[in-house]
Amino acid sequence: MDSAQQHTGSIDITKLDAWHQLEQHAQEMKQVHMRDLFSQNPNRLQEYFISSAGIQLDYSKNLLNRQTMDYLLELARQARLPEAIDAMFRGEAINRSEQRPALHVALRNMSHRPMLVNGVDVMPEVRATLTQMEHFTWRIRSTQWRGFSNRPFKDIVSIGIGGSFLGPKLVSASLRPYWTNVLNCHYVANIDGSHITEVLKHVDPATTLFIVQSKSFSTQETLENTKVARNWFLQNGGTEESINRHFVAVTANRAAAIEFGIAEENIFPMWDWVGGRYSLWSAIGLPVALTIGMDGFRALLSGAYAMDEHFRTAPLHKNLPLILALLGIWYTNFLGADSHAILPYDHYLRGLPAHLQQLDMESNGKRVNQDGVPVSYQTGPIIWGGAGANGQHAYHQLLHQGTRLAPADFIIPLHTHNPVAHHHEILFANCLSQTQALMWGKTYEEAYAELIAQGKSEEEAKRLAPHKVIPGNKPSNTILFHKATPRAIGALIALYEHKVFAQGAIWQINSFDQWGVELGKQLGNKILDTLLGQPQDGTMDSSTRGLIDLFLHKDELS
Ligand code: F6P
Repeated sequence: MDSAQQHTGSIDITKLDAWHQLEQHAQEMKQVHMRDLFSQNPNRLQEYFISSAGIQLDYSKNLLNRQTMDYLLELARQARLPEAIDAMFRGEAINRSEQRPALHVALRNMSHRPMLVNGVDVMPEVRATLTQMEHFTWRIRSTQWRGFSNRPFKDIVSIGIGGSFLGPKLVSASLRPYWTNVLNCHYVANIDGSHITEVLKHVDPATTLFIVQSKSFSTQETLENTKVARNWFLQNGGTEESINRHFVAVTANRAAAIEFGIAEENIFPMWDWVGGRYSLWSAIGLPVALTIGMDGFRALLSGAYAMDEHFRTAPLHKNLPLILALLGIWYTNFLGADSHAILPYDHYLRGLPAHLQQLDMESNGKRVNQDGVPVSYQTGPIIWGGAGANGQHAYHQLLHQGTRLAPADFIIPLHTHNPVAHHHEILFANCLSQTQALMWGKTYEEAYAELIAQGKSEEEAKRLAPHKVIPGNKPSNTILFHKATPRAIGALIALYEHKVFAQGAIWQINSFDQWGVELGKQLGNKILDTLLGQPQDGTMDSSTRGLIDLFLHKDELS
């Protein structure tokens, strides 16, 4: 048995040769400045630039050289990433704690290759569901399927949370220019009455279609919001008989949806081999299909498929998701970064950080390996970010001069949907200047000379210069694509899905379960019982007990 392989089957990656080499190499690279790497190598961009599926990645502004990449690629090999990729595409039960495959790639498989789960090809079901979506979308959009007063639908309200919300919401917002204005789309997720109240204020029950989105059909937030929507519908002109015209569901739990009152013929299937955060490609994407049309939805799938094929077949050193994954591992495990910023320079992509927070943090926020053994290294980073250039006037200060290392992805299309004045040139310039400033920085001497040139006295320049020093050497990736089209958005999201998978596979963790979210749900139910009048549980801690009391006596407080 390999010394790095534990008796249970997972590899202890800290015992791999490549891991040791990277640890030593990191000590050397900590002495290096990217300014010097660029000065020494005029071809740095060409060397560290790859593209596929319409996505281009410039990763030259990272603290690395050829040796770094060789060690990282070797780590991927020694951690058996190629075998893990094969296992995923073969439909093996790589989600071992739940004994399920993670086969979201089947949802966008445009080839004739079968995709097997337990030896059965799932492609006929996948295609049948796409056809079901196509018929439904056509009937709604062509106004054949109408509301209770025989008026065509004007609004869709999608009710769901987590993966049944963030993915479709991101894609509908990203593809706003493709909405054909047949239908408006709204999302309700939170169990905060204000969310649904504000959405319902702006829609008419006679012309609103509700899509209840829940893989499990047991999620409290979604079920409670659906009850509110149904009552609102009934109190505002809708009837029990017309509920079937206005409520459809997407779920893997057909029985629960039927019991809840959704008509059987209005249910779109989901499968347990698709994780919630990977489900936007299934019928969970129905709000997207309804707003942009099924052709657009298929183009989205085709972009993701192109990325899947690239990930499955490209050599490791030219593999976009893998390179992103390895860069993350380099910073997380060897250079001490604990977060990763997602900075889309595109208004339509402003929801990307929120989607990637779930995708990455719910997937790789894990502390034990696939065999349940605690890992001795860091796993998934904290994902954060927001739209550029807005962030430049907020948190970029910390990126430039803070004490933390926070690698960042700058994501920008070459073409805008809205060529207003010189806005896109200005936006592009901002994006590039940020990556340049992060990498290059400003030395004390430069800051001092600048101040003198501005007419400051020597004394004043000496006083101010330290504040103006920007160390630079801060890593970033620049991710470009032609334009935010359905195909490009599909490829971009799939890029991140595979990046997260590749990192999880190297870290030997299960990226496809999420047991960490369960405890809060269990405790929440107990607390709710108390808030609704049940006797207090004597085992509760004093803080929670005190806060419950505060809530129960809120009316007595001024
Ligand atoms: O609570 C976490 C989670 O299970 C996510 O993984 C999932 O995307 C979300 O809840 C919603 O679940 P469902 O689609 O079953 O309602």
